[in-house]
Amino acid sequence: MKYLVANWKSYITSHKDAKALFLATRDEADACLSEVIVCPPFPFLPDIKQDWDMAAGAQDVFWETKGAYTGEVTLDMLRNLNVEYVILGHSERRKYFEESDEVINKKVKAALKAGLKVILCVGEKQRKEKNVIPKIVAEQIKANLAGVPKTKIHNVMVAYEPIWAIGTGLSDTPENAHQAALYIRKTIGKMYHTKLGMGVKVLYGGSVNSKNVLEFVNYHGIDGVLVGSASTKKDEFTKMIKLVG
Ligand code: PGA
Repeated sequence: MKYLVANWKSYITSHKDAKALFLATRDEADACLSEVIVCPPFPFLPDIKQDWDMAAGAQDVFWETKGAYTGEVTLDMLRNLNVEYVILGHSERRKYFEESDEVINKKVKAALKAGLKVILCVGEKQRKEKNVIPKIVAEQIKANLAGVPKTKIHNVMVAYEPIWAIGTGLSDTPENAHQAALYIRKTIGKMYHTKLGMGVKVLYGGSVNSKNVLEFVNYHGIDGVLVGSASTKKDEFTKMIKLVG
């Protein structure tokens, strides 16, 4: 089964637009075999989970359970909405909110402990040598998964998202994304057990659209895609779901 994760980021700003987009997405998702996971901004999550019931994810979460943390959304708040997934470590959170590997690690551990599935984003800023996956990818994996018990690894999906490919229209090659997926699985395999590493689902993200989506999902070892801006365009995203099937 292939995964199509729609990361709406902060593109959709009104309830009306959110509703129109997720209704179209849901109708197409209902007719396909892939797992379509919609990750809207927090205010739109209740609509998706309560009124329409689609697989949904949050774009972030806080690691503490409750308390005096102005502005934060906690794990129980998500669980009470039956949200299954959370995206963590996205490069925009690392960049604009200065989230360190340590902070991401706290969030990953707390989310897994609370029973959520984590979509962990990793990726390099620049690729110096063509076709060589930079070591930073392994370093992020090791730091972000430090202390995660092996019994929880099946709830971690990794999204390889080279930063230079996000929102630029310059996607990576499927061959390279495949190499990155292998590298990620090997890194997790070394941390735990080879078999465990090989079982980890790896997605590719960065300028995926209806023109290139099949090249990625059909490539051996790539379990799906994490889609940003193209997932917020109704016709484009429903076309992608239809293509992947
Ligand atoms: P993009 O974003 O599809 O707009 O490049 C991908 C992402 O940041 O997850």
